[in-house]
Amino acid sequence: MKIIMLGAPGAGKGTQAKFISEKFGIPQISTGDIFRANIKNQTELGKKAKSYMDQGLLVPDELTLDLVTDRLSKDDCKNGYILDGFPRTLNQANALTDALMKQGTSIDYAIDIEVKDEDIIRRMSGRRVCPKCGATYHVQYNPPKNDGICDVCGAELMIRADDQPETVKKRLEVYHKQTQPLIEYYQEAGSLRTFDGMKPMEEVFSEICDELTKMD
Ligand code: AP5
Ligand code: ZN
Repeated sequence: MKIIMLGAPGAGKGTQAKFISEKFGIPQISTGDIFRANIKNQTELGKKAKSYMDQGLLVPDELTLDLVTDRLSKDDCKNGYILDGFPRTLNQANALTDALMKQGTSIDYAIDIEVKDEDIIRRMSGRRVCPKCGATYHVQYNPPKNDGICDVCGAELMIRADDQPETVKKRLEVYHKQTQPLIEYYQEAGSLRTFDGMKPMEEVFSEICDELTKMD
């Protein structure tokens, strides 16, 4: 099963992608996580990506496309995968469609999670992330057991560098301009499935599961 996650920054793509990955046993490939790991390890790619991410802008396609194609060629992607944060531009979507077409295949589901901009801004201010293992929490909707401490690895939780309100606004602007057109793209391809991201996360997941396990 090949899935892509669509939706605004903070809509819950990463949260749902992790649930899907665990339930269906397919890898979650998050371009944002890959860039953040490169920033942490101070790689050349990380240095280049950071300057765009800090401003809320997209990392240029020439730094993103090869990275994804390379990751998809790995053995663990044989039975499918969930792309979380890719594609994000029409150029990226076309590149993915072409690469899959060469293998005689295509994306099965494009999962779009809808949340209004004003709710996104409110939600992002409560996100906390673990710098060590990448786990994501929310102070209100998904708090850790011990305040400010990661349940998984015990590290101190942080606010993501690009979650400052001004950067979130810029990311939303970029989303509407560059990524939202992909909704129509995947609707035309017949793979779009839309979910209400304002429902509690377990409920969103249950609706996604119903759709993914539906017999055609
Ligand atoms: P990326 O890491 O992909 O960030 P994003 O798309 O902005 O999405 P987020 O990770 O912020 O949010 P999410 O939708 O995963 O929400 P989450 O589940 O965490 O990209 C970061 C940057 O990297 C980009 O700006 C760009 O610069 C660069 N980049 C990445 N990919 C790229 C590409 N392909 N091309 C170019 N550049 C690229 O949830 C958010 C919060 O809400 C959490 O606290 C969570 O606990 C909570 N929450 C989730 N669901 C619910 C719910 N149903 N109810 C209540 N709270 C909820
Ligand atoms: Zn952790």
